[in-house]
Amino acid sequence: MISETAISFQNNFQAQDTDVILASLPKTGTTWLKSLLFSVVNRKKYCDVSQHPLHSINPHELIDHLELEVNKNCHGNDLPRLFGTHMPYSTLPESIKTSKCRIIYVSRNPLDNFVSLCHFWSKFELNKGMKLDEKIMEEHLDKYCKGIFPLGPYEDHLLGYWKESMQNSNKVLFLEYEGLKKEPKDHLKRLAEFVGCPFSREEEKGNVIDEIIELCSFKSLKEMEVNKSGKCFPWFENKALFRKGEVGDWTNYLTPLMAKRINEMQERLKEAGFCF
Ligand code: A3P
Repeated sequence: MISETAISFQNNFQAQDTDVILASLPKTGTTWLKSLLFSVVNRKKYCDVSQHPLHSINPHELIDHLELEVNKNCHGNDLPRLFGTHMPYSTLPESIKTSKCRIIYVSRNPLDNFVSLCHFWSKFELNKGMKLDEKIMEEHLDKYCKGIFPLGPYEDHLLGYWKESMQNSNKVLFLEYEGLKKEPKDHLKRLAEFVGCPFSREEEKGNVIDEIIELCSFKSLKEMEVNKSGKCFPWFENKALFRKGEVGDWTNYLTPLMAKRINEMQERLKEAGFCF
């Protein structure tokens, strides 16, 4: 982490016991989880879905990313405070680790994560404006598999949070993008319980959970005007956050050899006991 705001976050951020931090690697479903987390925590405030802030505000503006916007405060006096971060567990400020604040981590299969990253980079940053071809993907793949990445190796990032979730399940809730896709209702119930606002029996019997799932679904968020034409930053179009939102899209882009390299990279996860 090299930016000034990241250093400021590391040095100065004081976590409160009630805080909830959403941690993830880029392109693992951060935007989706931010929308779900915000909607679950604030569901009593915004029970009329048609008036929900997600219709006019991108999820990244509803939940600040700590290392980017540590000085911005979008919470007012609302509790719990919700934050996002891409930082590895080992580099989090001590107050996050030692306080009772809770962390939700979302992981994603590296095959899809890698393809999603490549598309993102072709729009911004590394290959802005260049057509995503096999040669460019090969170059990215080499770095991805070697862990040459501002946030460190994929495996280290995932294992850092996963190990903590195994040792202290009250502190870290470990979720998988693929699991959320498959069983959104179960996952949302776990998330709500974890952040201390479980769904009541009446809510479970009614359609509150389904409404949140629908509101935050890929199709719904992608179609919102704020995400079609809005910008989080002058240089960042919100639509870049919504590409396909599918599991297994990697099969459309990776050669068998490329997939093999990523699968080999996953050996370290297996050795540590983690399996997708
Ligand atoms: P794809 O590029 O595979 O489509 P992040 O939010 O961490 O940047 O992750 C972006 C990925 O999540 C993109 O994946 C994006 O399309 C997908 N995504 C965004 N919103 C989603 C949603 N509501 N449901 C499922 N996937 C979503």
